[in-house]
Amino acid sequence: MGPLYHINLPHLKTFCYTINKVIHMPSTILVGGFFGDEGKGKIIAYLAKHDEPDVVARGGVGPNAGHTVEVGDKKYALRMVPSGFVCESARLLIGAGVLVNPSVLREEVSSFGIKGRIGVDKRCGIIEEEHIEEDKKDAHLKGKIGSTGSGCGPANAARALRKSRQAKEVKELEEFLCDVPQEINEVLARGRGVLIEGTQGFGISLLYGTYPFVTSKDTTASQMATDVGIGPTRVDDVVVVFKSFPTRVGEGPFETQMTEEKAAELHIEEFGTVTRRKRRIGKWDGKMAAYSAMINGATMVALSGVDRIDPSCKGASTYEELSKEVKDFVAKVEHDTHVPVKLISTGPEISEIVDLRG
Ligand code: IMP
Ligand code: MG
Repeated sequence: MGPLYHINLPHLKTFCYTINKVIHMPSTILVGGFFGDEGKGKIIAYLAKHDEPDVVARGGVGPNAGHTVEVGDKKYALRMVPSGFVCESARLLIGAGVLVNPSVLREEVSSFGIKGRIGVDKRCGIIEEEHIEEDKKDAHLKGKIGSTGSGCGPANAARALRKSRQAKEVKELEEFLCDVPQEINEVLARGRGVLIEGTQGFGISLLYGTYPFVTSKDTTASQMATDVGIGPTRVDDVVVVFKSFPTRVGEGPFETQMTEEKAAELHIEEFGTVTRRKRRIGKWDGKMAAYSAMINGATMVALSGVDRIDPSCKGASTYEELSKEVKDFVAKVEHDTHVPVKLISTGPEISEIVDLRG
């Protein structure tokens, strides 16, 4: 009757570890590695649809961010709602760090039909009409910095001065109010998956970006954890999204920027989701990518827009389908960042992706 009475400790440990690996769904933070618009919305939507986390939570500044999500022939542009809304079973949350524009939020909630499953932290800061007016007319913000004019800078300033309203004081938001950290930490305690989507990008972080040509808050992974109320010990993975050809909207230094003529010649012109402004386009910046991966504590890289390096790779969903040129580029990105490239986006639609996570 040996085995029943005789517990082999090392074996038990291995067994528990294996079970834990199988049932443990990690908490993942996704952030932008360059100047925003790296394709975070698409990657988040893919991860949400594929991994089916219990919760998708949004961190970041506020409605200055625009994410684009394409599923089949449907195209969505989002400014407040998490891009992971495409996973129909997921609870959707907006963390306390995020600024809320109540009318933008309500409009998106009704147009995406997600009323029953979205929650807004009761402590979110509120963007008022006066913040938007100030952002649009202020010579420094609009003129020099090239803000999006969505009121985020003035609203964050008012918040720092402790003059702004919180979500719990706004009647229009009453039905959505919740305690985001409480919900997320409970989900994590049950070993269930949480996906946290960051907005903006590393280069426009208030702390680490090209100050003063930056947004009104830090944009790195640690900030996203704070925004939704989880501690650093609760984060399993950090995905940093890099674009093969980085872009920048608004003013500020952009070391690898190319001329408009060059971008036109390569057929890679782009326009902003929120502002419709023409985006400045640049070449791959390995030095910036390495610094960004370091400060974000990246555990994996998601690389977007490889179909712009070689259009023949558009829509590829396996590594084998990629051309030598793209495979070499992926190797270069890994060499520059010292981080494995685990997701390779080959087009805007969510199925156009190579997933190497195994
Ligand atoms: P603000 O965040 O609206 O104050 O704008 C400050 C700077 O950050 C401007 O250069 C904006 O174009 C840029 N910015 C803010 N949010 C985003 C974003 O989501 N993507 C790209 N650029 C952004
Ligand atoms: Mg964007």
